[in-house]
Amino acid sequence: MKFGHFDDEHREYVIETPKTPLPWINYLGSKEFFSLISNTCGGYTFYKDAKLLRLTRYRYNDVPMDINGKYFYIKDGDTVWNPGWKPTQTDLDEYECRHGIGYSKFKGVKNGVRADVLTFVPVNDNCEVSRLVVTNDSSAEKSISIFSYVEWCLWNADDDSRNFQRNFSTGEVEVKGSAIYHKTEYRERRNHYAVYSVNAPITAFDTARDSFLGLYHYAGDPEAVLNGKLTNSMASGWSPIAAHQLDVTLKPGESKSYVFVLGYIENPVEDKWESHNVINKKPAEALLAKYDTDAKVDAAFAELNDQWDKLLNIYTVDSSNDKVNRMVNIWNQYQCMVTFNMSRSASYYESGIGRGMGFRDSCQDLLGFVHLIPDRARERIIDIASTQFQDGRAYHQYQPLTKKGNSDIGSGFGDDPLWLIAGTSAYIRETGDTTILDEMVPFDNDESVAETLMEHLRRSFGYVDTHRGPHRLPLIGRADWNDCLNLNCHSTQPGESFQTFGPSEGPVAESVFIGGMFVKYGNEYADICDLKGLTDEAAKVRASVAEMNEILLDSSAGWDGEWFVRAYDSYGGKVGSKDCEEGQIYIEPQGFCVLAGVGKETGQAQKALDSVKAKLDTKYGVMILQPAYTVYHEELGEVSSYPPGYKENAGIFCHNNPWVSIAETVIGRGDRAFEVYKKTCPAYTEEISEIHRTEPYIYCQMVAGADAKFHGEGKNSWLTGTAAWTFVNISQYILGVYPTLKGLSVDPCVPADFGDFSVKRVYRGVEYDITVKQNGVQKGVKQLIVDGAQVEGTVIPYDASKKTVKVEVVMG
Ligand code: BGC
Ligand code: NOJ
Repeated sequence: MKFGHFDDEHREYVIETPKTPLPWINYLGSKEFFSLISNTCGGYTFYKDAKLLRLTRYRYNDVPMDINGKYFYIKDGDTVWNPGWKPTQTDLDEYECRHGIGYSKFKGVKNGVRADVLTFVPVNDNCEVSRLVVTNDSSAEKSISIFSYVEWCLWNADDDSRNFQRNFSTGEVEVKGSAIYHKTEYRERRNHYAVYSVNAPITAFDTARDSFLGLYHYAGDPEAVLNGKLTNSMASGWSPIAAHQLDVTLKPGESKSYVFVLGYIENPVEDKWESHNVINKKPAEALLAKYDTDAKVDAAFAELNDQWDKLLNIYTVDSSNDKVNRMVNIWNQYQCMVTFNMSRSASYYESGIGRGMGFRDSCQDLLGFVHLIPDRARERIIDIASTQFQDGRAYHQYQPLTKKGNSDIGSGFGDDPLWLIAGTSAYIRETGDTTILDEMVPFDNDESVAETLMEHLRRSFGYVDTHRGPHRLPLIGRADWNDCLNLNCHSTQPGESFQTFGPSEGPVAESVFIGGMFVKYGNEYADICDLKGLTDEAAKVRASVAEMNEILLDSSAGWDGEWFVRAYDSYGGKVGSKDCEEGQIYIEPQGFCVLAGVGKETGQAQKALDSVKAKLDTKYGVMILQPAYTVYHEELGEVSSYPPGYKENAGIFCHNNPWVSIAETVIGRGDRAFEVYKKTCPAYTEEISEIHRTEPYIYCQMVAGADAKFHGEGKNSWLTGTAAWTFVNISQYILGVYPTLKGLSVDPCVPADFGDFSVKRVYRGVEYDITVKQNGVQKGVKQLIVDGAQVEGTVIPYDASKKTVKVEVVMG
């Protein structure tokens, strides 16, 4: 069952009912000012950092679901309604929400009044613009009142949600004309404030929540709105809000348009005040003036759309499969941008106060983003590397505002260092820019110990190379990619954090998965060494990689007979082996070792992937492990803490499904690679939205596995490495257009019945028009013709002097 449909022409998902199984959200903003917005106008806004600079308040896990947002109310006689249905939940005669690329549109119709809302964050300003157009579709004149409502957050969202003894006394506002200013803590150490305004004279306003809502009321029945009269309240402590009232008369057929702007302003410290305790509003007024007419809003909206036209032009596919086209050309790339911006900080499942930017997460997000805006990827790589320690380890997370490593979580995740190589290699393969390797980058943000980025990579590789266990496999530390495999933690008390309890290192617990990474990214590092002319180092690295390859294939270390072992615990016991009672096979080492090429020659790769199919596959995707853990294992940690079928305990963890799919392309099985791709692909799961429940246009982190009560149900949508990895999978491995250090390679691996297709790819300033004759073949390039001339192999020689290059690929 579906709750809407795709409108590919407009790059929108059109939601036809407000009663979606879960809030279906969108992200506005792509640089520093961001909003989350649901299909019923819920959500919140922040500047740069969802924890430290939150503009509007949101209450997670509230009831009814998704209750705070940026709302417009329309009072028409005794009926009060919202264009997005919530929070009043007044039945609408018509409702539609269109989530687009960086904007959302709402249409609500009630009793002959139509309200259209367009909301977006302009490309170059720190504000959210909402244009509300009300139209009288009835045959009689209508006098209505329009009300806006946002609730301010007192900046630090964490403190805001718990430090009530202080926060109930600090709230301060100013009002000037139609502009309502939120200036809590501006009197002391802050030099920033927020403003919410509308481009028309208002009848009244409220800035105190209690006056607007009324005691014992909530956003669904605000007393002042029900009374038809805001009270001009001035907040003093408690909960400051911003609400405007506009009284409007509309002739039959008449429309009126209002532009609301929610903005963030920083003033220079020496220029904070206009007069004693009166904030300097000049920059706010300048900002508001940029969006005070429809024409200006139209121009800003066009600019946003142009920006996306350009970005989404960098990689496009034209195949006979509409779902693939839709995901590749629009939604998958859009989600890559969002995950790049947010890491795992702010979604409807990540509260924005818990996690900042993840070291491994951000490195992986970059893989799906780097082609879009390489300069931002470059900057990100430097930021991430700056949080690395001198010995090659890394902080697991850092805060986007300060860019400093988060010492609460600290370090010790065995896989982190290698992801830096993954991200840097992707950047260089995309851009050819090797100067990044010579950039001086601090360790732990200490400039006095800066070294080149190349040295950082060397230490990344070196750390893993020199921290091995009894089987010469990499030590796992606190965990590897699977945050829940806490083999050194041994926690027995509730409340102890699996992520930080216990030692961050242990001499015994090892990860086969990191071994797979070591082969994959060790090879990429060796290629980078070659590029730098460091042939001796490259040879040494390759020797280590070759040794690791052997260890992984050795049945007394990495190999279990039919698949790869997952890990060794701190007692030296196998994890993910046929010898285990539960958790006999895990997906990660099968996917990653094979995608790294391990076991390709020996047949073990195929065996491992056949075991994945036999033991882990379901109709909704491939599960992370089987059989699920039914009891808590102190020696394994959080993985066994989840009820069977959820999250890392035998859920379908979407992030590693593309690893399996990529691995299948590495051994040439296009049918199976695509089958795995399809199972978690939103354009396919849209059909079962009532089971899947999360947004049908983007990936979620986890789908409940076969052991779970709600098998097939998605959770934790939006912020997941799935976005980047699936884009890498479909664009670089299945469709096969892969950036190498030397140029673009084209080597597709598709289902036998996929048909011919073409890809347009802008790469290092050259536009490649690639057509593929598939010939019913899953993998293999018979002929590569570049501008009419046949070329050996699969790599198109890079020629910067050309603007466009015509590439014909004949499979066979
Ligand atoms: C989750 C993991 C997540 C980790 C982050 C765990 O509870 O299961 O998916 O990576 O928390 O801290
Ligand atoms: C989510 C985390 O953000 C990611 O870093 C981790 O790899 C997965 N969960 C698996 O545990």
